[in-house]
Amino acid sequence: MEKMLQGMCMTEQIEKIPPRSRQFTELANVDEVLKDLSRLLKKMANCSWSAVYLVDREQRDFTPARSCGLPARYMPLFREMPLVPDKLPLLKSMLRKKHHLLIPDAGESELLPATLRKILRRLSLLALPMVVRNRVMGAVFIARSRNYPPFSEDEIGLIREIVSHAALVVSHIRLFDESLDMAVEMGKRIDIILTLDEINKAISSSLSPEKIIETAVQSIERIIQFDLVTVLREEKGELYVAAARSSTITIQEALQNGARLSGRSLARTAFTKGESRYIPFLSRASRLSSFDRELAHSGIESLLAIPLLSRNKAKGVLLLGNFEGGRFVREDAFTIEKIASQMAVALENARLYEEMRSLFIATVTSLANAIDAKSPWTKGHSERVMNLAAAIAKEMGVDEQLTERVRLGGLLHDIGKIGIIEALLEKPTTLDEDEFPPMRLHPGKGVAILAPIDQLQNVLPGILHHHERYDGTGYPDGLKGKAIPLEARIITVADAFDAMVSERPYKKGYSTEAALAELRMNAGSQFDPEVVACFCRYMGVITTGAD
Ligand SMILES: [Fe+2]
Repeated sequence: MEKMLQGMCMTEQIEKIPPRSRQFTELANVDEVLKDLSRLLKKMANCSWSAVYLVDREQRDFTPARSCGLPARYMPLFREMPLVPDKLPLLKSMLRKKHHLLIPDAGESELLPATLRKILRRLSLLALPMVVRNRVMGAVFIARSRNYPPFSEDEIGLIREIVSHAALVVSHIRLFDESLDMAVEMGKRIDIILTLDEINKAISSSLSPEKIIETAVQSIERIIQFDLVTVLREEKGELYVAAARSSTITIQEALQNGARLSGRSLARTAFTKGESRYIPFLSRASRLSSFDRELAHSGIESLLAIPLLSRNKAKGVLLLGNFEGGRFVREDAFTIEKIASQMAVALENARLYEEMRSLFIATVTSLANAIDAKSPWTKGHSERVMNLAAAIAKEMGVDEQLTERVRLGGLLHDIGKIGIIEALLEKPTTLDEDEFPPMRLHPGKGVAILAPIDQLQNVLPGILHHHERYDGTGYPDGLKGKAIPLEARIITVADAFDAMVSERPYKKGYSTEAALAELRMNAGSQFDPEVVACFCRYMGVITTGAD
């Protein structure tokens, strides 16, 4: 081979060799390129063996990658012996100069340690750095018998070309692989960020704890696989199950909704410490609590408990279980912690809202009670109308906001009577003809009383129009049919029903059946037929106890 190479002029060599090395670019992985490189070098330089090492930046050494022609007895030595520049003067010198080194008699060279000198006896050695963008990424060693003429300048030039071409291909493959990994990782992260954002919007847009928990559970399902998810909420220092879901195991009694978590458990520890707790293998854990042991018996192996922290205080715990051991990795825990904290804040907001709402309702109720108390005959009327009207709204399937307007409108519908002289309200007989006009002012007066309260603005139409009739002959505006706000049409029916069934000094109370019959009879004239139908259906369910 060397004769062949030496016999050729340089141009001929270049024409012959590079097409072979160009095949590197067709190879898809680093190992294939290095395998081809070591074979090609051995063949073209007619050498005893060739070896390729790659830099391991973490280990700060040259790790063996590929060799060709190395005697079998030296293979373990090659595979298990990374080259450390500090211990190998040859390598150190080559790295400093970033240039090849030719050692004609390697067996005698001071640049090599004794072990290598033994292997390289009677061989000449050519060492070349693999350099890409001025950075050493590896090294190539070619050993040839000293019986052959030493490496010529032309040969070395050609070998350097091939080595640097292979180094460039390796660098491109690595870059491509890294970009691909990075793209996959970025894709995953973007997906998690988008999901977290969606969760945040979904959770924050609700003030219902049940809906918040449901949304959070669904979201976790999208991001991570689990066999059990449980949400525990704190109440007076105790943890209660707010939701438990599993598609693979039967939810045990201790995890049924509303169950109190008693005794020691991983969830309790996470709650008390305010920190996530993880048992990767329940079956290997010692001293398990009876609660966690029961989970292990149902097949759960990995158990992760994340506290629901709001303002640094645990408000509950999110408990996740998986049949597979060591299932939850650090990234999973991090993502779930984010969801848990969004969930905790949303639940706390919902609790504060509920507290404020209760205070508001209590205040408004005392206002309504003030008017009911003006007449002994109407005691509790406003609250009853509120409950009946809300039940009708629910039966009709209207949205939460309208139901709320109906509830508050029902409670406050007669608040304007506060401005009516007490003599009229306390009158034990039906009103005379001339007493109706002042009484008819009460819806308008009610609106005037409540108008300054911002939070009640959307309740006013229900109050103003609760004496309109469906046929347009009611007051104050004589609105007809669907022109009357729906909340007012609902309140009218609830108001009329309660008035009918209540005892008055001038009349006995109707029976439920008689009152419903009266409503039906006046559906279309006084009342909205659809509202009456819904109310009758609701009352039918209540009175017959049917499902
Ligand atoms: Fe009224």
